[in-house]
Amino acid sequence: MADKLFIFDTTLRDGEQVPGCQLNTVEKIEVARALEGLGVDVIEAGFPISSPGDFNSVVEISKAVTWPTICALTRGVQKDIDVAADALRFAKSKRIHTGIGTSDLHIKYKFNSTQDEILERAVAAVKYAKRYVEDVEFYCEDAGRTDNVYLARVVEAVIKAGATVVNIPDTTGYCLPSEFGDKIKFLMENVNGIHNAVISTHCHNDLGMATANTIAGVMNGARQVEVTVNGIGERAGNTSLEEVAMILKCHKGLGIDTNINTQKIYSASRLVSSLMNMPVQPNKAVVGRNAFAHSSGIHQDGVLKNIQTYEIMNPKDVGIDDNSIVLTARSGRAALKHRLSVHGVDLDGEKLDKVYEAFLKLADQKKEINDDDILMLAGQDLSSTQRIKLDYLQVTSGVGVKSVASVCLNISGERFEAAASGNGPVDAAIKAVKHIIKRKMTLQEFLIQAITKGSDDVGKVHMQVEHEGCVYSGFAANTDIVAASVEAYIDAINKFNLN
Ligand code: KIV
Ligand code: ZN
Repeated sequence: MADKLFIFDTTLRDGEQVPGCQLNTVEKIEVARALEGLGVDVIEAGFPISSPGDFNSVVEISKAVTWPTICALTRGVQKDIDVAADALRFAKSKRIHTGIGTSDLHIKYKFNSTQDEILERAVAAVKYAKRYVEDVEFYCEDAGRTDNVYLARVVEAVIKAGATVVNIPDTTGYCLPSEFGDKIKFLMENVNGIHNAVISTHCHNDLGMATANTIAGVMNGARQVEVTVNGIGERAGNTSLEEVAMILKCHKGLGIDTNINTQKIYSASRLVSSLMNMPVQPNKAVVGRNAFAHSSGIHQDGVLKNIQTYEIMNPKDVGIDDNSIVLTARSGRAALKHRLSVHGVDLDGEKLDKVYEAFLKLADQKKEINDDDILMLAGQDLSSTQRIKLDYLQVTSGVGVKSVASVCLNISGERFEAAASGNGPVDAAIKAVKHIIKRKMTLQEFLIQAITKGSDDVGKVHMQVEHEGCVYSGFAANTDIVAASVEAYIDAINKFNLN
């Protein structure tokens, strides 16, 4: 019989730490429900002491989700653990995830401490967390760069103190797969009592090796993996859930099974991407737009003769349905609701009305509305509570002439107009907006993405705008790319603290 691998999802904690990916509690609950549907074993719902928002999300996710264990992160300090235990009070099955840095670099520079003192603090944190919950996971931060002999001492001590799971993070994404696999093997062979706990991996992708390291860990005895949907997370991200799930499905010989319903992978990926405004790169393994697209003549020929010549996975196994219904301006609210529910997005009442209204507007501009379009609409903030709104935008541009834009903004009910010229229509329009807003702000990142293929496609624009030392993210989607750019810029400005 295959060994069970526990899937610990940290999309809502490590993934949510990414600038611009922050979700409100309602959105987090939507993601948590999708994770439950996907079959993850543990949902790391947040870091309760870090903010009231995180605390509240852990409380609400605990109420909303039934069978996965809900986990809350803490540092190895009592106050964090008290707050996490409080946030978990409604969870049916709960875990506290506490820990401390164990590498020489962390011990010396973060804690100005010694190995012995850190070991004592680790044991004390586990014992303290055990007062509240039976299930305590301990992380050895920067384990990837921690000396194996010392790491083994820490792991042994925390298991003795009652840790049920010990997490071995490659926090900086530094390890080579062979090195990380050897580290887990060393622990499995040298720690007394290792079988009283589950060993977990938590690999970051700084050198593009997160998934390889995770699999190396599993092949050497780890039985929990910490992952995120689409691999989002700090810096270059975490190990991606979909990659691990499909590797184990494709390589049955490894003898490891997960509880993941792989047919729900694609919808979970789309949901996380649209709610977090985080585009998935087209060539992303398993869930990228091109992951199953065969474009070269030789490949197409082979695939037509026998699909297995160039395809190792069936797209249906990850929930990609080629026959997805195309919606048009004649489709009703029920068809839209149904199509969204297929992707795990359940909308009713006012929210459905708003998305339907936006859908009809889009259907006026675009003949066929596909799944990506409606997921994008469902992920947009359609509330009309924004203080600054774009009233109108007119742009003149062309080859050999300077672009000129006229903009009118509605700011708390009052209209303000301005015009400007620039290097291209977006530059001109943004300059006109700046004439009205009159704040020092700098556009730091500007990403335009077309969702599908046609010239009537919806363009999605992500921007990051710096204002007084803080960076604000803006997002908008429109069939007019200049309008989408100005709307994304305004979306970011609406988030400034202008008091
Ligand atoms: O990367 C890391 O080390 C972490 C820990 C807090 C588990 O995210
Ligand atoms: Zn991490």
